[in-house]
Amino acid sequence: MLRRGSANPTAVCLAMVLLCLRPATGAVVGQAAPVSEEGEVLQFCNTTAPPLLASTSSKQDLIGPLLHVAISTSIVGYHSFGWADSGRPTLLLIHGFGQSLDMWDDLNISSPLTIQSMAEDTVEFIQALQLPLPPNLMGVSMGGFIAIAVAALHGDAIHRAIPISASAGSLGSEPPTDKGLSIVAQPERRPLDMLSLFYPLNTTRGAKAACDSAFQSLYMLAEATITEAYGRQALAILHYFNVETAVWDALPLVRNPVLLIAGQYDILVPAQSSRAMAARLPAPWLVVIPEAGHGVASQCRDTVLDLVDAFLGSPDL
Ligand SMILES: *[C@@H]1O[C@H](CO)[C@@H](O)[C@H](O)[C@H]1NC(C)=O
Ligand SMILES: *[C@@H]1O[C@H](CO)[C@@H](O)[C@H](O)[C@H]1NC(C)=O
Ligand SMILES: *[C@@H]1O[C@H](CO)[C@@H](O)[C@H](O)[C@H]1NC(C)=O
Repeated sequence: MLRRGSANPTAVCLAMVLLCLRPATGAVVGQAAPVSEEGEVLQFCNTTAPPLLASTSSKQDLIGPLLHVAISTSIVGYHSFGWADSGRPTLLLIHGFGQSLDMWDDLNISSPLTIQSMAEDTVEFIQALQLPLPPNLMGVSMGGFIAIAVAALHGDAIHRAIPISASAGSLGSEPPTDKGLSIVAQPERRPLDMLSLFYPLNTTRGAKAACDSAFQSLYMLAEATITEAYGRQALAILHYFNVETAVWDALPLVRNPVLLIAGQYDILVPAQSSRAMAARLPAPWLVVIPEAGHGVASQCRDTVLDLVDAFLGSPDL
């Protein structure tokens, strides 16, 4: 979630994990997908050109070195960057499922992860940073589950929450669609299927976003996934939708301002999940973006950043 240029600084940003951090190399693409499957994506995108990988050096210059802070269950890796004089609280960003990129160094593998435990870890992480003001908290997908869980269960720890492509879990929320689940359940996911998880390939805007991202973040994320973290997070997500009800139950009591952003055609965490949260929260902002998928934050990056900016700049009620 990096703003292009500096026209509109959103805040000092602290990212527990950012997308696309891995240095881009041709080898990543080569290893991630055999030629025939890669060819499927090239064909869909009407291109025969070899994939162009975006340079990550300017991003790395911006976000600076990887820092660490110890909390009781883990050592958490993070980057701290941005405009400290923006006058706004820190904006803390949390990644989604499987996107840990070596940054969560789990010390206590014996303790199961849940969305609630990850929310507690986030609160401990915030305390460990000793920020002058409670931060705003923005999370995507599983990171969005954590963001709404922090607002619902530890609201004093943060200022505002921005769950994107998120859900409050419990049996009250809409489950993933059959199409989304069937792709997730495949042992070897084809690149084009992976893209269809994040972008509606049947729309012009979705197909364009998929092709723009095809040889950048998805391949790098696939390469960077840690199997152990993936399994523990998958169990945490199952638990969140089938067992936990605390976040869902607590929504009517949330006092933090909340901005919910969803993609109309999200097949993993359907937009209905955000509508259901909005119906239970006292005074939410809700934006469902047409023709967007689970990857709405990257598919509609500029719109999402404008929304985030408007929300964070709006007066307290
Ligand atoms: C590829 O070309 C076909 C035929 O011109 C077109 O229908 C399709 O939308 C194109 N796909 C993308 C991703 O631009
Ligand atoms: C690991 O987690 C388990 C279960 O929560 C707990 O009983 C145990 O004390 C923890 N171990 C350490 C070293 O923190
Ligand atoms: C595109 O796919 C989405 C998700 O599967 C579906 O809900 C939507 O109706 C489709 N739209 C069109 C124009 O086919």
